[in-house]
Amino acid sequence: MSLNDLAVSGRTVLLRADFNVPLEEDPGGFMVITDDGRIRAALPTIQTLASQGAKVVILAHLGRPKGEAVESLSLRPIAARLSELLDAPVVMADDVAGDSARSVITGLQPGDVALLENVRFDPRETSKDVHERTALASAWASLGDCFVSDGFGVVHREQASVTELAALLPHSAGLLVAREAEVFNALLTDPARPYTVVLGGSKVSDKLGVIENLLTRVDRLIIGGGMCFTFLLAQGFEVGSSLVETDQLDRVAGFIATAQETGVDLVLPTDLVIADAFSADAQVEVVPVAAGVPEGWMGLDIGPDSAARFAQLVEESQTVVWNGPMGVFEMEPFAGGTRAVGEALTRVTGMSVVGGGDSAAAIRLMGIDESMISHVSTGGGASLEFLEGRTLPGLAVLSTS
Ligand code: 3PG
Repeated sequence: MSLNDLAVSGRTVLLRADFNVPLEEDPGGFMVITDDGRIRAALPTIQTLASQGAKVVILAHLGRPKGEAVESLSLRPIAARLSELLDAPVVMADDVAGDSARSVITGLQPGDVALLENVRFDPRETSKDVHERTALASAWASLGDCFVSDGFGVVHREQASVTELAALLPHSAGLLVAREAEVFNALLTDPARPYTVVLGGSKVSDKLGVIENLLTRVDRLIIGGGMCFTFLLAQGFEVGSSLVETDQLDRVAGFIATAQETGVDLVLPTDLVIADAFSADAQVEVVPVAAGVPEGWMGLDIGPDSAARFAQLVEESQTVVWNGPMGVFEMEPFAGGTRAVGEALTRVTGMSVVGGGDSAAAIRLMGIDESMISHVSTGGGASLEFLEGRTLPGLAVLSTS
């Protein structure tokens, strides 16, 4: 069912959102949101429900508090930011499913918005025991009439507010989850060609499943970021003190062989920005990959020639997915590769998708025009698992009535 099929007027709608945003403590000791992209992405569904006269009760998590109330992971700063963005009050409950939640919900009028405290403060939310998760979901279900799933970032989790609650109430996907699922389905089933996937980030072990599933579907796989050094070492290049996962060398060599057999263009950097320390003040040089990284030095970004080549290949494609930065973009000397790929994405004439997590944060941090990219996903692990071709429990439960 889509959001339009759900009768919400005058009813209490429990809405799962993903407000797991980065926070930093300011000098005054207050928690400040450093990237509110996920809160902004939830606004269309919240505003649609409120304008249809629903009483909107939002369930969300922050961090991994392990079933205990942790002050620094309270959703209070999120409620304040959400209220600013909605330009309307957001009533905040002091607990997850107790007296405060009940009294806040009872006091709502049609069109009002409330936020419950961090659902992971209750150990039943993430319990491995389905009976415990169901008990928490039942407590929520007794307070609401229907459920809307709009936290795409958590649909890969089997947790009370994601899966068990959906099973107990009439439900639908929210606008964000529907859009994310539509985009990722299109990437897996019917991409316009040439189809290029750009992968980066530090660990190749996080991306093994994605590479495996996509290697036979894409025309071109571009690898940058820390994970490229395991590929370069597998090809016999010297990588010095760069990040390498030696236990993945065989697996990576297998990917290189598969790409050769199937005619997929596997593109690796040909030059690197290297440094003598993991620091913005380190001594920095650009070297060709073929010359090798000297011992004691490490690659912290792809080099300018590689950045230009990756950007050109991205621009020439009709479908592009990008997941993972090309270098340590948080430090300016190593931001060039990530910036080049991010900017190239805005020039793609077909479909361009940023696969969430660090790359979505990089786009915003670098001031790249998000409106020129077809879709910037809010999912980190969820978008990777989708690209791996796995069944996501939070989506599977929505297709049952
Ligand atoms: C995310 O940040 O990717 C989601 O909010 C899920 O968080 P989790 O990995 O702690 O479940």
